[in-house]
Amino acid sequence: LWLLGLTGLVGYMIGSIPFGVVVARAMGLGDLRAIGSGNIGATNVMRTGNKAAGILTFALDAGKGAIVALIAWALLGEDAAQVGALTAFLGHLYPVYLGFRGGKGVATFIGTALALAWPVALGVCAIWALVFKLGRISSLAALLASALSPVLALALGYTSMAVLFAVLTAMIFYKHIDNIRRLFSGTEPRFERKK
Ligand code: G3P
Repeated sequence: LWLLGLTGLVGYMIGSIPFGVVVARAMGLGDLRAIGSGNIGATNVMRTGNKAAGILTFALDAGKGAIVALIAWALLGEDAAQVGALTAFLGHLYPVYLGFRGGKGVATFIGTALALAWPVALGVCAIWALVFKLGRISSLAALLASALSPVLALALGYTSMAVLFAVLTAMIFYKHIDNIRRLFSGTEPRFERKK
C-alpha cells in the first residue's frame, strides 16, 4: 500500500509542473495567467499566437500524465497506473507550485488516456478535432470529447478504465464551469478560422 501512496505523491509532484507557464516564460511570451482566459493550458498558450509554444505545452502536459501512468504500470501494475494517472491529473488541476490554482486538465487527461487505453485516447482526440473543426471552440471540443471517454472505454473493451475516465471527466467539467456558462450565453471565444 505504501508503494501506491508513493506513486500518488510522485504523480502529484510531476503533474503539478505547469508546463504552460514554464513554456510561455521560457519563450518570452509573458505571464500566461495575465493573457486570454488566464488559464495555464495549451489553449491559452495558443492565444499568444505562438503555435509551436501551444503544441509544446500540450505535448508536455500530456506527456507528464502519460509518463507517470506508464512508469507506474511497468513497475507496479495497472492499479498503480490508475493511481498515478489520477494524481498527476490532480497535480495539474491543483499544482503545489502555483498555490493550487491550476489548469483544466484536458491535455493531461489525454496523456493519461494514451498510456492507459490508447484507442480511447485516439477516439477522444478524433472527437475533439471534429468538434473543434466545426465550432473553433477549444472548451466545447474538450467537454464533448471527454464526456464520451467512458463510453468509448466500455465500447472498446477497456472496462477497468471507464470509472477512472468518468471521474476525470467530472473534474474537467467542474473546472470548466465558467466556460460552460459562456457557452450557454454564447460568449465563449472562438479561434479564428484558418484562411
Ligand atoms: O483545455 C482548456 C480548454 O478547454 C479551455 O481553455 O483557456 O479557453 O478556458 P480556456
